[in-house]
This record gives sequence, structure tokens and C-alpha cells, in this order.
Amino acid sequence: MGEIIPPQPGIMNIALYVSGESQLAGQTEVLKLSANENPYGPSEAAKAAYAAASGELHRYPATDHAPLRAAIGEVYRLDPARIICGVGSDEVLQFITQCYAGPGDEVITTRHGFSMYPILAHAAGAVPVEVDEAERVVDVDAIMGAVTPRTRIVFIANPANPTGTMLEKGELQRLARELPPSVLLVHDGAYTEYADGFDGGAALVAEFPNVIMTRTFSKIYGLGGLRIGWGYARQEIIDVLNRVRQPFNLSNGQMAAAEAAVRDVEYTRWCASENARWREWLRAALVQMGVGCDESHANFLLARFDSPAEAEACDAALRAAGILVRKVGGYQLPDCLRITVGDEDACRRIVAVIAKFKGVR
Ligand SMILES: Cc1ncc(COP(=O)(O)O)c(C=O)c1O
Repeated sequence: MGEIIPPQPGIMNIALYVSGESQLAGQTEVLKLSANENPYGPSEAAKAAYAAASGELHRYPATDHAPLRAAIGEVYRLDPARIICGVGSDEVLQFITQCYAGPGDEVITTRHGFSMYPILAHAAGAVPVEVDEAERVVDVDAIMGAVTPRTRIVFIANPANPTGTMLEKGELQRLARELPPSVLLVHDGAYTEYADGFDGGAALVAEFPNVIMTRTFSKIYGLGGLRIGWGYARQEIIDVLNRVRQPFNLSNGQMAAAEAAVRDVEYTRWCASENARWREWLRAALVQMGVGCDESHANFLLARFDSPAEAEACDAALRAAGILVRKVGGYQLPDCLRITVGDEDACRRIVAVIAKFKGVR
């Protein structure tokens, strides 16, 4: 038997991404609150556009995503020429890492940061450098303290996953201002639409040349199953990223559904307001039961229990009741569970189970 060819440096350092579970053995009626999906699904217009696209399955899609970029540009008041679309925002994050970090370079991530960031850094042969957070909030001083001449990228999600917290506006500005011009700040805005009045980093992109914001159709637009995301930055950066993008990365169906979804502004607004209503209701209920919970700006809550053992036991109680949430020990939060905000029924159901578990009702 011959030797097996080794992969590129960094690849074997990758710990495989763990996604939210969707099944429970022996249960048919599972309530899935583990993947931050929109409980109401996509807009009817998006579903109709996707169905209509099935008439064109033999046609290659457009390579420039022009109608989708135009729609995003109109709705978010951005220059369509400076938008890049990807197979989920994950793909845009991958383009960024591939283009701007290489072997030996450093990529800064934060303690409870989204787990794709170190995966992408390793895939590029770069070294992920994790810095502390301040009580589950991104800490600008900690990031600045970790910057070295080898730093190429800083990744932050804002609102952050799995904490749901946001960096205060002045602090975000300071981070962009203080980073050296040789470092790209990636502002991941997957949950932007749930954060009341937030522009997702657009003003930051307008002010600072080395900021890119990424966005997704997987959360509020309810299209996680289709995989569409986008990024926005200076033209020079977008032109770089487009060089590594496969020409036909998005299918006709993906683009048609996403365009219809983003144009259905009224439905998006309704989803955001329902989420805010039930998120606050759920948070108040958790706090009342003695479960710690930061204010969330996203479509999930991070429930903090008294100990990792209690979080584990509550997860077991939820599973026994057919409810799946997300364990976040891998995010260095072993005493917590991340709960996606579902619809009214889902919120009432999970509160009833946790109340029984805590013995408070
Ligand atoms: C912070 C953050 N960024 C990016 C993503 C990736 O989203 P997608 O690739 O579906 O656009 C997620 C999904 O969970 C996320 O939570």
C-alpha cells in the first residue's frame, strides 16, 4: 500500500462544522429551534418565483446576478455594482478569506464568534487568532491588542451568533478606524434585519475602505434551504472577490426566489415585528424563571443556566418533549442553550417545558 498524498497546510486543522440538529429519534412532531430559521418560511412571492424558474432548468443562469443585485441595491439603497452574491453568505466569507489571507497570515476571531471563521482561516492556510469577549460582547480593545503585522482579516458578526449581542455603534466605528489599512474588517450581518433600524454596516463601508459587510437570505428571508448570500464593499474589493467566484455559482431558481423575497418588503417587516414581539416575550419569561438572558438583536436567545449540567439537563427535557435547541459548548458557552425564536405556539411550548424543568409553574 502506497502513501496517501497529504492535503494543503491547515486543512487537517479544520474541525467539521456542526449544524443545528433537525431530527429526534422516535419523535415525528419535532419542533426545530436549533438553526435560526424563519418559522414563517419565505414570502409567497419567493415561492412562486422559485416555482416559475423550474421552466428554465435547461438554461444556464446569468453570471453577473444583475437583476438580483439591482433588487438588493434598490431595497437597501446600495450601489448594485458593489454587491457580490454567493451560495449563502458562507461562500462570500470564503471568497474573502481565500483572497485576503494565506499561509502564515493571521485571522482574528472572537471567543464566541461564528464557527465558520476559524474553518475558513484554516482552509486558506492562515492561523485563526481568537480573542476574548467582554461578557459575551465583542471587545474592541481585545481585538486591537491582537493585531500584528501578520493580521489580514478581523471577523465579527453583528448581531453576533450565538450570543445575540451587538457592538455599540461608537465601538464599531472605533474598530474600523483603529485597524491598520492592511487589515480587512468583515462585518457579518446575517441577522441585520432583526436589529431594529440597523444598516448592517453600510455606513461603515461608505466611510472606511477596508470594511466589507456580508448578508444572507437564510434568516429573515426564510431561504436557508436555497443558499443565497451577498457582500458589499468598495469596488476594488468586489472586483477581487469576483475573480475567485465561479461564474455560475447561483442558479436561476436561487436568484429568482431571492429577488422576489427582497422585494417583498412588507413581509420582511412583518417577520421582523413578529420576531421582536415573541423574542421579548420569551426573554421575559426566561428571566422570570431564573434563566439568564442578554438582550438579543437577532432571531434567537442565548439562555444561560446555572451550570453546564443544568443546561445539559434542560436540553434533555426539551428533547423528551420533542423540542430541539442548540447546545453551544463548542462556542465556549457550556452553560447555555441557544433558542431560535419561533412563532407564538413554539414560544409558548418551549416556555411550558422549561418552566416544568425549573419547577416554577
Ligand atoms: C453569523 C452568521 N454568519 C453567517 C452565517 C451563514 O449563513 P448562510 O451561509 O446561510 O448565508 C450564519 C448562519 O448561521 C451566521 O449565523
